[in-house]
Amino acid sequence: MKILKIDGGRKLNGTVKISGAKNSAVALFPAAILCDENVHILNVPNISDIDSLNSILKYLNAKVEKKSQDSFYIASCNIENKEITEDMTRKLRASYYFMGALLGKYKKAEVSFPGGCTIGSRPIDLHLKGFESLGAKVEQKGNKVIITADELIGSNIYLDIASVGATINIMLAAVKAKGVTIIDNAAREPEVVNIAMFLNSMGAKITGAGTNTIKIKGVQYLKSCTHEVIPDRIEAATYIMIGALLSENLTVENIIPEHLEALIQKLLEMGVDLKIDDDKIYVTNKNKLKATKVTTLVYPGFPTDMQQIIATLMTQATGESKIEETIFENRFQNLYELRKMGANIKVVSNKGYIKGPTKLKSEDITATDLRAGAGLVIAALIAEGETTINNADYILRGYENIVEKLEKLGAKIKLIEI
Ligand code: EPZ
Repeated sequence: MKILKIDGGRKLNGTVKISGAKNSAVALFPAAILCDENVHILNVPNISDIDSLNSILKYLNAKVEKKSQDSFYIASCNIENKEITEDMTRKLRASYYFMGALLGKYKKAEVSFPGGCTIGSRPIDLHLKGFESLGAKVEQKGNKVIITADELIGSNIYLDIASVGATINIMLAAVKAKGVTIIDNAAREPEVVNIAMFLNSMGAKITGAGTNTIKIKGVQYLKSCTHEVIPDRIEAATYIMIGALLSENLTVENIIPEHLEALIQKLLEMGVDLKIDDDKIYVTNKNKLKATKVTTLVYPGFPTDMQQIIATLMTQATGESKIEETIFENRFQNLYELRKMGANIKVVSNKGYIKGPTKLKSEDITATDLRAGAGLVIAALIAEGETTINNADYILRGYENIVEKLEKLGAKIKLIEI
């Protein structure tokens, strides 16, 4: 296990460059299988989820070459469509994208159920229902799913929930199906658009990505392409909120402000001093933060991935803030860790009430999932003295070079393997 030791209470200033989006990159790598030639993916974040996906691609005999510090070349012409076992899939939720990619290209996929952050039950029923709508047969055997189809026929699919994963997975399965597939109530997240653009640059015919209705006209052949991962809006949000608490002047660069609209509005409401440029944002800590209310919603609403991070900010805001989590049923575990540090927090079902400002004290705390861990890093950066964060492996799944990036801003932080 890895732990982070952070000596908090220090001002953090300077510039931080945001990396490629984890939730886009983890879909692009399995999607690369669909290409009949090879792909070059740029701006790939150096995070452990990408390492896990690369080992699955290599296990399937895809050719994966790191071309530079953040770009990969993937050739899938000699793929062996083998069973992807639990020891590989349990490391990350995004392993389920191999279902859509292998089904879409080979009309067969044998993949164990995915792992991922324990923020809820995280079923994949909508993914499997989508595959069945396309004519596939879905069998569950123990902890794996076997999905087969004589042929995949385009169909109209309505998603009960605007699921990011199901939207992308169905797109992967439909891109070479016969005829037209319509996904209604599709997720609108920027990462969905990034995947659709990747497939279109191979020659797919996808329209409507980013809206509630995505149309996919099946094609026979997908050619080589080069594609860039969009900047990670959740990583950006994390550093912006660090700046809101600890910086006289912090520049967060390589961002797409439109992807951060909901957060920016909330932070302005709280009294954070933000100046927005076309691909960067300047943040200044204004001592008095005001309490606010957040309800998590699908994009473009306030992202569930940002609520565990703004919760830490709310401990320093004057008044009672409220968080209502409507996407996942178990995404408040970080609040109990913040309480250990002295935060004044009450949880009632899917609502968290945070009274501030409270002085956080350094403690021995534990990351329960990726974004919970990010919220605790911010808490440790505020608290005077040395805080230890256990299970820091979670954090490394989604934050490229977090130690180096924070050290460069003036943080005193150590990553230790124990
Ligand atoms: C993606 O997870 C992200 N992960 C999550 O980010 C993010 O929190 C989530 O989208 C919502 O934005 C990746 O992209 C790898 P969903 P995903 O399907 O696709 C229910 C992070 O921190 N649902 O949109 O799993 C589900 O239980 C991670 O980077 C079904 O009921 O999320 C949840 O309540 C954490 N059946 C809701 O829908 C299904 O078949 C939204 O889930 C699928 C989902």
